[in-house]
Amino acid sequence: MSDLMQRTLVLLKPDAVQRRLMGQLIARFEAKGLNIVAMKMLKVTPEMAKKHYAEHVEKPFYPSLESFITSAPIVAMAIDGLDVIKVVRDMLGATSGLNAAAGTIRGDFSSSRQMNLVHASDGAEAAKRELKIYFDDSEFCRYEPVLTPFMRAADE
Ligand code: PPS
Repeated sequence: MSDLMQRTLVLLKPDAVQRRLMGQLIARFEAKGLNIVAMKMLKVTPEMAKKHYAEHVEKPFYPSLESFITSAPIVAMAIDGLDVIKVVRDMLGATSGLNAAAGTIRGDFSSSRQMNLVHASDGAEAAKRELKIYFDDSEFCRYEPVLTPFMRAADE
């Protein structure tokens, strides 16, 4: 596996599910050439929310964030790819949809800081920690897509 091959956690948040955007958002990750290696729909519990957003639990906005993330199902995905942690964060855009550049997911679909549709891990440590909250190791289906030779050169 290349040094740059990474795995990240992506969540389609309750607003994405309720707004019927799941298909469009998943299509963006597929079109980019990233590999979805695990995916499930679930309701986040308050306990999971506190684990996931551990660094924000004491912040004034946390009660509202917890109430939002537990309000409807989410879709959790594990995504593999070269430099995928940064690549996916760039695809999402700035945290607030109001600041996110056009062409990014939030820039195109969100005008909110809380309802920003998609979460993605912001670094390697966060990805490792967050993936454990949503997936067991046995749930990852790693595979080599047959299109790889048409997505990048062998030495990339
Ligand atoms: S980032 O991009 O993850 O570093 O953004 P950050 O500013 O640290 O925000 C972390 C998550 O908290 C949510 N958030 C808020 N929700 C409600 N109200 C306010 N004021 C607020 N500020 C931040 C934000 O949507 C981020 O959620 P995730 O799931 O990480 O995108």
